[in-house]
Amino acid sequence: MISKEERAAELYEVIRACRLCALAETRTHAVPGEGPLDAEVMCIGEAPGLNEDRQGRPFVGAAGQFLTELLAEAGLRRDEVYICNVLKCRPPGNRDPLPGEIAACAEYLDLQIDLVDPLVIVTLGRFSMARWFPQQTISRIHGKPKVVDGRYIVPMYHPAAALHQGALRQVLVEDFRNLRGVIARARGGDFEAAGAAPAVSAAWEPREAPAPEPGARADGPATPPAAVAALHLPNRTPEAPRQAGPRPPDQEAPAPTEPRQISFFDQDT
Ligand code: URA
Repeated sequence: MISKEERAAELYEVIRACRLCALAETRTHAVPGEGPLDAEVMCIGEAPGLNEDRQGRPFVGAAGQFLTELLAEAGLRRDEVYICNVLKCRPPGNRDPLPGEIAACAEYLDLQIDLVDPLVIVTLGRFSMARWFPQQTISRIHGKPKVVDGRYIVPMYHPAAALHQGALRQVLVEDFRNLRGVIARARGGDFEAAGAAPAVSAAWEPREAPAPEPGARADGPATPPAAVAALHLPNRTPEAPRQAGPRPPDQEAPAPTEPRQISFFDQDT
């Protein structure tokens, strides 16, 4: 039977050669993602930036440096987390992803989630958040975990946002500190909810950017999944999904129980 590593290698090869949208014409390197295929935590950003485009690796610039610090706040080393993006190619000038581009890349992200099957997904910024929380705003729900499809989804501000808006640093640091408690609960198989609100189970459905720009090009392909149809990739039923405990239906998770600590970041930076 084909191994996870072989599946990932095939998927990365397809992504690196992908020409499903116009970003293929302007990229230097596609950036599939990286990290252990048995990672408990997956971080999903927006799209590669300049440094990522040059190196073919996710989060290697200033935002990536900050992400590494944030992961440490959650008790995680970067090399134990799977890191990828909604888009695998850099939009010129780091503009927002277009709906057609998100559609073109959606199947790749589906396959990565199936392959890694993480206990916790951390969305970084509004574009990855929109996949699970399409009607929400990041300022309302950041740091609040929700159980969707039997795993925790935790929406966070994008680390780059804090590089531009200093006040968000502290918010991100505290949200990542609270992530410790979420991970601990997931490891313990605790997916129980308290005060469940109507579940937002948008997984696999939204293919739209949260706020499409007027006149945005819908330049995705007509049938994006065709590019991966020939892959020996999981068919949505991994042979032995790794999970720490029973995964119940979608529900809102209880508030993190980890005590808050004093941040090393100045409040006013
Ligand atoms: N921002 C992202 O969203 N992803 C990266 O890989 C780098 C910066």
